[in-house]
Amino acid sequence: MKQIYIEQLKAHIGEEVTLKGWLYNSRSSGKLVFLQLRDGTGIVQCVVFKGNNEEVFETAKGLGQESSIVVTGSVKEDARSPIGVEIDVTGLEVLQNVHDYPITPKEHGTEFLMDHRHLWIRSKRQHAILRVRHTVIKAVRDYFDDLGFTLADTPIFTPAACEGTTTLFEVEYFGDDKAYLTQSGQLYNEATAAAFGKSYAFGPTFRAEKSKTRRHLTEFWMVEPEVAFAGYEDMMDLGEGLILQIVDRVLNERRHELEILERDITKLEEIKGPFPRVHYDDAVKMLQEGHQKGELENNFEWGGDFGAPDETYLSKQFGLPVFVHHFPTAIKGFYFEVDKDRPECALGIDLLAPEGYGEIIGGGERAANLEYLEKQLAHHGLPQDIFEWYLDLRRYGSVPHAGFGMGIERTVAWMCGIEHVRETIPFPRMLYRLRP
Ligand code: 4AD
Ligand code: MG
Repeated sequence: MKQIYIEQLKAHIGEEVTLKGWLYNSRSSGKLVFLQLRDGTGIVQCVVFKGNNEEVFETAKGLGQESSIVVTGSVKEDARSPIGVEIDVTGLEVLQNVHDYPITPKEHGTEFLMDHRHLWIRSKRQHAILRVRHTVIKAVRDYFDDLGFTLADTPIFTPAACEGTTTLFEVEYFGDDKAYLTQSGQLYNEATAAAFGKSYAFGPTFRAEKSKTRRHLTEFWMVEPEVAFAGYEDMMDLGEGLILQIVDRVLNERRHELEILERDITKLEEIKGPFPRVHYDDAVKMLQEGHQKGELENNFEWGGDFGAPDETYLSKQFGLPVFVHHFPTAIKGFYFEVDKDRPECALGIDLLAPEGYGEIIGGGERAANLEYLEKQLAHHGLPQDIFEWYLDLRRYGSVPHAGFGMGIERTVAWMCGIEHVRETIPFPRMLYRLRP
């Protein structure tokens, strides 16, 4: 007799096993008690028959939701079970009998559930979403590892902004020094790319964004590749390959979870390369046409940044993720390379996900010229002394290079087909949420 996990049960039909876990739900009828046992890998129905052992039967009947238990029994094939098996219980050990679990199978409001996030993550839907997240992250890591990238993580305490000073979290740092929570590892990635050729960072990033949209967290995870001797077009190739690998892995490894989430799987199966690549100029034209047709309220003007309705409209025209490139230099970060023939356009790329999930990748080609960057720092009001190390990358072996950042939570929300990014991370941080 050995302890195994629920997701392995199908390989143990006919054997006696011990399962350790928590009571997800239960019901009894006459001489039978049905225990829904969860162990983190799945849920299995455990059937307790009074005639087998009266003491076990009475114990099972008295168990409340989320009681911690150890169940022994034989594994029986069962065609009606979602996992194909159930347990015929012979033994039951109770570690803790619980009777006041706050989250019951009835409906609860989102705020209540968010306040109980530490318990809510045990529920079927949340569990499924977080397992998809795991698979997305594994797909991301495998993708870059298999392409020969070196993982080189970047600091979280930083001395200056990367993505504009309006969304910086400031932290006291021993006396007079101020530190800021990183908005992006990019600037450091540019250093590691010059050391390793191809590198990536994967970690939490922070934005003091006062937006309450369904796409914004104040703390989110970003994977950021950076490649030496590469341009913005190479980043569209790299990003497309990344998305295709994620979709493929999620479809192959997380079918069961997608079913629990009632995800329309055909929408993901339709995701095939090549993804359309649209110049910002042409995107603007499409948006203006959309306005003329009455499909967009706002009449978009060249020079602006896309709002959520614009992004949704653009991706709807294709039914695929869409790259937009050549954004106006004026609305982009200080570090972008510009189009030589049209310096008002930066070599930036964004990937807009379908189904209204918005921008999931942002990046592009970095300015390689020292003098230009010095001017840009001054223009953006950034202190040059703090960026001297960054400028060194242009003094010592400057090469064309490019990279991007992909937000994990928005990508997971898209894969799962869920409304809000707050459910895609174990413990979300938002404008009005710092607990639990
Ligand atoms: O477009 P962003 O701001 O790009 C950068 O930070 C670059 N420096 C990255 C790079 O080139 N290495 O952010 C990149 C992605 C977005 O496309 C989005 O997926 C995600 O990060 N993101 C957020 N996700 C959740 N909540 C927020 N507040 C987010 N802000 C950005
Ligand atoms: Mg962006």
